[in-house]
Amino acid sequence: MKVLVLGSGGREHALVWRLSRDPNVAEILTAPGNPGTSAIGRNVNVDLMSPKDVLALAAREKVDLTVVGPEAPLESGVADLFRSHGRPIVGPSKRGAALECSKAHAKAFMSRHGIPTARFAVCDTAESALAAVSGARFGFPVVVKADGLAAGKGVTVAADRAEAEAAVRAAMVDKQFGAAGSRVVIEECLSGPEVSLFFLCDGEHASYLGSAQDHKRIFDDDRGPNTGGMGAFAPSPLATLDLVRDTYERIVQPVVDGHAEMGEPYRGFLYVSLMLTADGAKVIEFNVRFGDPEAQVVLPLIDGGFAGLLRGAAEGAFVGPPVVSPDKTVGVVLASRGYPASAESGVPIDGVDRAAELPGVTVFHAGTKMQDGRLVTAGGRVLTVVGRGATYREAMDRAYAAVREIRFDGMQYRTDIGKKAIGT
Ligand code: AMP
Ligand code: GLY
Repeated sequence: MKVLVLGSGGREHALVWRLSRDPNVAEILTAPGNPGTSAIGRNVNVDLMSPKDVLALAAREKVDLTVVGPEAPLESGVADLFRSHGRPIVGPSKRGAALECSKAHAKAFMSRHGIPTARFAVCDTAESALAAVSGARFGFPVVVKADGLAAGKGVTVAADRAEAEAAVRAAMVDKQFGAAGSRVVIEECLSGPEVSLFFLCDGEHASYLGSAQDHKRIFDDDRGPNTGGMGAFAPSPLATLDLVRDTYERIVQPVVDGHAEMGEPYRGFLYVSLMLTADGAKVIEFNVRFGDPEAQVVLPLIDGGFAGLLRGAAEGAFVGPPVVSPDKTVGVVLASRGYPASAESGVPIDGVDRAAELPGVTVFHAGTKMQDGRLVTAGGRVLTVVGRGATYREAMDRAYAAVREIRFDGMQYRTDIGKKAIGT
């Protein structure tokens, strides 16, 4: 099988790495890819936001299966175009992608289908949003979310009315997130531990792929600003068999059925973020793709044929569930100086090869590039260093032993990824 993976981050390197270990995969292209994916297959250039160009690439290269990493190409309709040309692709249609790309749509979908989630109000004007955060309806803290994609910055958990009003004004009056904030969702604030579950849907059913816990804050002990994710471990000890079954029945199957009813079979990854509240598990958000850095810790634990599973999902044929290893993984993100506010680029990176040679270690590239024959930084999140072991402790020790081999000026990382799972 010849596979095309769209994207350029650590998630895509992990997808490519996992596919390369499948004997049914003969060749892998990544568009645009990174130095990690080019060491495995061939990187090709294409405008990911132009479905027509991506389709032309897949046709020219006679690709058998296309796997979409990020959500933006899905929002631009790449999966719709591929399907209308009979080309297998892993990823939902544009309407399916709205589950992630419009929080208002996701909330309305969840209410229609009885999926448990925080109480909410969708507001199209600043006046109605200011009224919704005035206190009586949701109390405080209250959550203010920009409707559209806002690079992970569109959510404010506001402690009081002043903070909530400031968040509404930032989105709707100052247009801090552009068009993404012209509508907001106001939500009741839930509390409890967060866990992410990953499914692969084939339009009718879904296979459970695994679970993980992300670490979104930049500093240890969940302090500092939010980032795209500073590390993750898998599986999550919170993802009990009961929770997985319950999530499948009450959340995932309704999502799949709801899309089938709309005549838009959901074929692709579904990433369910849950908060385990005193009142049961509730959906915080859906993503219509794999997570980053969650893919880097979940994919290594999937044994057996991965490409066949993906192709089955793309073609609407149930092939799961996958065989999952009982091992544990811990993935530590190495970020550039200034991240998440800004990021340095072009800084030389040392020790990646040495780190990758350690037992139970895999290093995934994200913001890296080759410059004058050497590896340098090229963005905020630079590498994800993954350790694998029989226990969380072993996985964590292996990940951090590898991190200590890697150096670049300004390198920052959390020292507590995996700590929450130890002793569980
Ligand atoms: P989201 O982008 O929707 O995943 O939100 C980002 C983060 O904000 C989540 O990971 C949660 O920690 C927090 N959050 C979102 N919605 C809520 C809510 N209703 N109650 C409490 N925290 C929330
Ligand atoms: N790690 C969070 C995400 O991929 O959205």
